[in-house]
Amino acid sequence: MLQNKGFSKLTKEEKINWITSTYFSNPEEAEKLVKQYWNSNSQLQKLHDEFIENTLTNFYLPLGVAPNFVINDKIYTVPMAIEESSVVAAASKSAKFWAARGGFKATVLGTEKIGQVHFSYSGSFEKLEAFFKKKKSSFYEDTSSITKNMEKRGGGILDIQLVNKTDKLEDYYQLHATFNTKDSMGANFINSCLEQFAKTLEREVNSYEGFSENEKKIQIIMCILSNFVPNCVVRAEVSCKVEELNEDTEISPTEFAEKFVKAVQIAEIEPYRAVTHNKGIMNGIDAVVLATGNDFRAVEAGAHAYASRNGSYSSLSHASIENGVFKFWLDIPLALGTVGGLTSLHPLVKFSLEMLGKPSAEELMKIVAVTGLAQNFAALRSLTTTGIQKGHMKMHIHNILNQFQATKEEKEKVIAYFNDTTVSHSLVVDYLEQIRK
Ligand code: MEV
Repeated sequence: MLQNKGFSKLTKEEKINWITSTYFSNPEEAEKLVKQYWNSNSQLQKLHDEFIENTLTNFYLPLGVAPNFVINDKIYTVPMAIEESSVVAAASKSAKFWAARGGFKATVLGTEKIGQVHFSYSGSFEKLEAFFKKKKSSFYEDTSSITKNMEKRGGGILDIQLVNKTDKLEDYYQLHATFNTKDSMGANFINSCLEQFAKTLEREVNSYEGFSENEKKIQIIMCILSNFVPNCVVRAEVSCKVEELNEDTEISPTEFAEKFVKAVQIAEIEPYRAVTHNKGIMNGIDAVVLATGNDFRAVEAGAHAYASRNGSYSSLSHASIENGVFKFWLDIPLALGTVGGLTSLHPLVKFSLEMLGKPSAEELMKIVAVTGLAQNFAALRSLTTTGIQKGHMKMHIHNILNQFQATKEEKEKVIAYFNDTTVSHSLVVDYLEQIRK
């Protein structure tokens, strides 16, 4: 393929010219498309251009809302940025269902974030341990200018531990630090502290009399926060009497509750199912995480690591029936922020956060976890009753109709026709062709 070594130095216009003339059979059309997605407000466009590097244009995702979420007795309309049809409808349906049964409860079980300095050292562990004990306070002192503001907000460094990992990897040690980053996700804060810890470690080791010249040759490998946050966890839950699960006429509440619990148990013990089950949870989680300007890759990585924390990949949610009461809950690690990062930069993120009543990070953890649980409830409810395709394809009809540029009248006819008939891509296309004849 063609290389363009000075690409990042080109202007946006030059970048587009190079891309369209290099890769497209019709460069004019490609250029027109790219520019069609520019915002006419040049200031707004510049803002988006500068979020990342080598920006050509904007890539739209719909921002939808799921109303009627009752969480700890407060009502929310939840913003969701997602491309998959039926996710928002499913969340809304669950929200309404549970609003009539006492709503969702959510509890933050912990907010601890983690970061590590990974380093090599070839001397004895006892000496290193003695050194660390003696010098531990220097790590706090040297980071005081970084932690000052965070401490004012009630956060900061919680602890720093020296960890010996030499049983897994030769000469490998860590400074394993825990943090409270309050309403910020904290990535910059944590990484800044860690990089200072590394400098302090090198300096203090070098001037420590207890080490030989050889032992002083520690090597800092890297300093970085961990996206595995098993102590930054929120629980979302719902419960009601089994007989209140009475919305589906095709199946009795008891049969539904039992099938539902069995479906969750399958996801608890069967990784193939657990991955899809958790994917359904992440449909809700990611959509809110994205709409509120948080890092969905970090959340995804952390959630799946948590789902495997006992050695085998398992369901993030759980369900039970005890004494005629159905319970369904989800524990999920969520390192989120409501200040810093994109939260004050992206106008739609600000919009989403204001719609949620400008929540603290802990409140947002609750909202996000509840949306995940609602999504999971909707998926399992369909799967254990009508099957997923019925609702899914109904929503998907719109995509198919748009793909074939159906008119308003055609859309109405097709939707009415498939109201009580099985939907498939080919059946919709066939019927559309039939109308058009
Ligand atoms: C589709 O995006 C998500 C589901 O597959 C989740 C599930 O199977 O539980 C419906």
